[in-house]
Amino acid sequence: MAAEIIDGKAIASRLRERIAAETATFVTETGITPQLAAVLVGDDPASAVYVRNKQRACEKAGLRSTLHRLDDRTSQGELLLLVDRLNADREVHGILVQLPLPKQIDETTVLDAVAPLKDVDCFHPENVGLLSQGRPRFQPCTPAGCQYLLAESAVQTEGAHVVVLGRSEIVGKPMALLMVQKGKAANATVTICHSRTRDLPEITRQADILIAALGRPQFVTAEMVKEGVTVLDVGINRTDDGKLVGDVDFTSVATKASAITPVPGGVGPMTIAMLLANTLTAARLQTSAS
Ligand code: GUN
Repeated sequence: MAAEIIDGKAIASRLRERIAAETATFVTETGITPQLAAVLVGDDPASAVYVRNKQRACEKAGLRSTLHRLDDRTSQGELLLLVDRLNADREVHGILVQLPLPKQIDETTVLDAVAPLKDVDCFHPENVGLLSQGRPRFQPCTPAGCQYLLAESAVQTEGAHVVVLGRSEIVGKPMALLMVQKGKAANATVTICHSRTRDLPEITRQADILIAALGRPQFVTAEMVKEGVTVLDVGINRTDDGKLVGDVDFTSVATKASAITPVPGGVGPMTIAMLLANTLTAARLQTSAS
């Protein structure tokens, strides 16, 4: 049976419409327009595209967005000064520092400096701590996007074995936290695999739901999955001939999967939609706190 293709683009588009409607209500009720400040350091072309897409999505949803561009020789001190200024700006509700940062800057120091109530990436230890205790303030964007895709596609997660490939702070770890939580589209048994995992295919073949986020092009092949698996592909890799591919060998894995996300048009659009949702949440939190 052919796999269902999980249409992240369409699902994200419906979610963005809902966020736009909620934003319009919030603006009417408070007179405040939620604002996202994006910070882009250096001239990495992929990062520039991501930031532009995030800004466009904000504007379409009725959120304000501002871009702060700094050159690639910016010092850590200069970046921290900008973060402090944005933390103190009452008109800025969400701050997004696009990663990666140039090598002279320590990412952890900068991300820790973002005010927790403005941390729409959910990277601050306070927000990660709340998430790990099952009382999230913000949703980690890409993992929450994956979870939303599972819910929208009516994939059974209760008691299912979810195997997460990759242990990054941005995707792998928070993904596992979301799936193991009590609640809707969760309650799963979770295994995290990474570069040092022994007998990886043995484990991936046990997955009812496989979430690939290791950043290795077309790493997951048909031999590594069981019949009927649901596969979410977080990877975005560019091949030598300029093609975008995920971490999953889509063509072969789709012959065995019951449902699978494409790249592009799968998980990617969901990350942006969740960022919008978090920016609205941030504005709500800061409005009720003031
Ligand atoms: N770089 C790649 N993914 C992300 C993300 O989700 N947030 C930020 N800030 N930078 C990224």
